[in-house]
Formats: sequence, C-alpha cells, structure tokens
Amino acid sequence: MPERTTRQSPSGPITLAVDIGGSGIKMMLLDSKGKPLTDRLREPTPAPATSAAMLDVMMAMTRNLPDFDRVSVGFPGVVKRGHTLTAHNLDSDWIGFALQDVLQTKWKKPVRVCNDAAVQGFGAIQKSGVELILTFGTGLGSALFTEGHLCPGLELAHHPWRKGKTYEDYLGHEALEKHGNKRWNRLVKKAIEQTSRLFNWDYLYIGGGNAEHIDFKLPETIKIVSNEDGLLGGVALWDHDF
Ligand code: BGC
Repeated sequence: MPERTTRQSPSGPITLAVDIGGSGIKMMLLDSKGKPLTDRLREPTPAPATSAAMLDVMMAMTRNLPDFDRVSVGFPGVVKRGHTLTAHNLDSDWIGFALQDVLQTKWKKPVRVCNDAAVQGFGAIQKSGVELILTFGTGLGSALFTEGHLCPGLELAHHPWRKGKTYEDYLGHEALEKHGNKRWNRLVKKAIEQTSRLFNWDYLYIGGGNAEHIDFKLPETIKIVSNEDGLLGGVALWDHDF
C-alpha cells in the first residue's frame, strides 16, 4: 500500500512511537526532534500474544492519545518490507504477517515497521562505516548498518554460540538472572569480541534495559545508548530508506 503524505505542522510531523515487546506494549508521541509530547503508555502484552490480541491492545491505547501524523513501530523479530517474519517471544501467527499494511489501514496514517533494535540503531548511528547495535533486554537485539543503510534480517539472538546454545541463551534477561552479573559481564565481553571479529564494525552501540549492568570499561568505539537516544530512532526511521 502506498504511504500517505504526512501533514506538516509548523513544528514538523508528530510521530507515534510504538515498541512492541514480549512483556509490554509501549507508546508515546514525539515531536519532529524526538522530544516526548506525552508520557510513555504501557500495557502488558496479552497471552497468548497473537497478532489479533496485540492489535486490539494497540488500537485501544491510541484512543486516549492526541492526534499524530505518522507511526514508527519497533517489533521484536525479523521485519522485511513491513512483514514480520519471526517472533521468537510472541505467538507464531506473527510469522509472515503484513503488520505495516494492517496498521496503515487501521490508523489511516503512514506507518513504518522495523526490528526493535534497528529502530534504536537509527537513533544512534553516525551513518559512517560499519555500525552495529546490540540491545540487552528480555531478548538480545542486533542490527547492522553500513554507511547508514540497514541490513535487514541480522539476528544474532538465535544464532548458535557455545555448547549448542544461542547468543540470546547466554546474554538475554533470563541468563543474567541465572548466571548473575559477574558471569553475564564476562559473556557480554566475549560476545562483543566475537562480533568485532565477525563484522569488523567501526562503532558498536549498546542499548536495552540491561545495558546498565555492564561493569567493564568500554573503548571509545563502543557507546552506551540511552533510552532517550532509542526514542529518537522512531523519528530517525523516517529519514532512512530500508
Ligand atoms: C528477537 C530480535 C529482537 C530481540 C529484542 C530477539 O529474541 O529475535 O529480533 O530484536 O529479541 O527484542
């Protein structure tokens, strides 16, 4: 479906930033510079987390919000051309779902859907060289950019790493709780070295709720991305083709 043109208010378009997660759905309105215009709304993810049940929650959440011009959605799985292709922490009916078109029809606004880590990355990257973002939350998010272009589909999370287990098995929230801070930090350090050898990135950004548990010194080429930077991604998404 072609995207509608956005209404340009004097201060630029208002973006509804949506973060779809395995435990919560979050939303807020941002001005054209990424400044929050509302509080962050949060509703628990329904169980089972089917597309129909989650869309109902999202529609109900926007009923209480002021008007917006366009929507940016971060989704916790592989997204290509507006379709959700994997959904490890949600219901399997998301596989192959045309989320971008469905939301555009429901909200009657231009919508862009992208992997959640990629949205954060868009807010952080310098658009120079090879840049990788890793997000440490419930799951492990990863997104790779070359000269500011996203390579959609990179999923470090479910790639085998050690002893038949995946990166997410060692670095996700459950692993942090199971292994404790010290071992988790050792594993994070190893994983960073591994990604450096694999992608030879020029810059690495680290985000997500558990980034604050990282306790070793990071070189200048690695930057912790704050939640605010992450929000900017919802606006920056509109300045990129992907
Ligand atoms: C998913 C990724 C997502 C990450 C963070 C992983 O389990 O496979 O696509 O970015 O969780 O939500």
